[in-house]
Amino acid sequence: MQMEKLVSLCKRRGFLFQSSEIYGGLNGFWDYGPLGVELKRNVKDAWWRDMVTAHDTLEPPAGAPRAYEMVGLDCTIIMHPQVWKCSGHYDLFHDYMVDCRESKRRYRYDQVRGRWVEAKGQRIFVATMAEAALEEASTQARAQKFFNLRAKNADELDWQGNFITLPEVDDFASVLGPDAKALGTLTTPREFNLMFKTTVGALGGEADTAFLRPETAQGIFVNFKNVLDSTRVKIPFGVAQVGKSFRNEITPRNFTFRSREFEQMEIEFFCHPDYSHQWYRYWRDRRMKWYVELGLAGQRLRLREHETEELSHYSTGTADIEYAFPFLPEGEFGELEGIAHRGDFDLRSHMEGKLDEKTRPLQLELGPDGKPKWRGSGKDLAYFDDEAWERDKAGLGLTSFKQYLKQRDGESPPGAPYQYTPHVIEPSAGADRATLAFLCEAYDEDQAPDEKGKLQTRTVMRFHPRIAPIKAAVFPLVKKDGMPEIARDIYRALKQHFNVFYDEKGAVGRRYRRQDEAGTPFGITVDGQTLQDNTVTIRDRDSLEQQRIKVDDCVEEIRHRIM
Ligand code: GAP
Repeated sequence: MQMEKLVSLCKRRGFLFQSSEIYGGLNGFWDYGPLGVELKRNVKDAWWRDMVTAHDTLEPPAGAPRAYEMVGLDCTIIMHPQVWKCSGHYDLFHDYMVDCRESKRRYRYDQVRGRWVEAKGQRIFVATMAEAALEEASTQARAQKFFNLRAKNADELDWQGNFITLPEVDDFASVLGPDAKALGTLTTPREFNLMFKTTVGALGGEADTAFLRPETAQGIFVNFKNVLDSTRVKIPFGVAQVGKSFRNEITPRNFTFRSREFEQMEIEFFCHPDYSHQWYRYWRDRRMKWYVELGLAGQRLRLREHETEELSHYSTGTADIEYAFPFLPEGEFGELEGIAHRGDFDLRSHMEGKLDEKTRPLQLELGPDGKPKWRGSGKDLAYFDDEAWERDKAGLGLTSFKQYLKQRDGESPPGAPYQYTPHVIEPSAGADRATLAFLCEAYDEDQAPDEKGKLQTRTVMRFHPRIAPIKAAVFPLVKKDGMPEIARDIYRALKQHFNVFYDEKGAVGRRYRRQDEAGTPFGITVDGQTLQDNTVTIRDRDSLEQQRIKVDDCVEEIRHRIM
């Protein structure tokens, strides 16, 4: 599938628009159009339903070590600045970037690609930010220009090696920057914090600086105690949140894949440390299955376990669910979701303060004055398993937990196994990346007969019915003989339950085509036979098969087919 075709369909049919387009757009920001908003909402609703509301707390799901509970939260985008200091985002959440002194442009260091080439006795590295499909042509044209070679003399260019990224280049003086005419205009890489800053209140001093959250996860950690105190959840349990996150990405690119404002769908799953690796494996496989169930199957989807050296400092296991987006070079995959075993890193950070990533086991990071660099909340976020304690205390011959702590004096951890800091498994997905993957996977072109029976190329979005923006379209075959009236009644009956569309304009074949492009899985048509036996045809978008069903069965039939 060519990405340009999908991008054009997304604009033409109202899936995605560039933000503030009439003012020339704003890089890294996207608006969802009338069809796009339904698609993305369906993706988020499917996630919420499958992970939270429809989750059966009584039975262990397939592969789960035991039954567990799931609840949700909806936290603010702006949080206390200390949250980001203790989480490590304030000190560590940055990318490296390089500036071009000539073009005044800024690039993400690891995203600048290029090739070495030699001509006229000089060897240079030609850098480019062009998309994978265009990078060869881009470097060729720029090298010719740099060496002042005509197209007929292009074979004087001696290309050396494959495309590599800037971090693999030592000699910056020989680099021709992506938008430069002279060599050596790129600065050495510098750190750039990805959090957007804002000001809370009217004064605007440094003390009023706050940040737009770069992830939804921290809202869950800082509410851990509130959830425990306000519900009856017991470990193991998960807390889910869907919401906007913001990252001032240096080079937003590839449609919505890397945006500056995006939505995440995150779960923080709290469990006993002894079972955490079992839960990690469960969540990794459960999340992979979710994408497959919604239609991302086959070679383009993969689960990739991180190598040890790739793991974050707090993680003992991380896997990415990845999709081979068509804008990536052949054989490359882009991350849809990460599933990370985060140990007790987050709860400890918010209790004690920022932890030093260089220490094992993790110790509090100290400032130059020997005091904690960023102090935690000081609140006790440990979990007390009161059920286990009540069950065991008589057998231990004790009446209070205080006595137990005294008995274990000097042992570590002091309250084990009844009191402990839970470990966390975090499945963290991007709603926009998932939506983009569903759009890429859905796009198809095939041959289908038009109203005269002649085969025509048809563009069809093969969304899973659960996420399709419109579930069914209702058509009267012709605009007379009472057909529109019956069709409108069917439309109104369906509208009570699903997002459906009514269309009576133009040839019915053309109406089907428009719905195929929108990804509508079912078309219901009222025709001459309806007037005689009260049946309609229901057409399947993918198989093109038509079946007759009773008018009164339309709601149940659509419901059944969507599941
Ligand atoms: N709490 C962990 C966390 O935020 P992450 O890997 O940085 O982990 C999780 O982000 C997911 O959020 C990614 O897998 C991706 O789907 C999505 N995401 C991250 N940055 C994004 C961006 N700039 N644009 C769109 N989606 C993004």
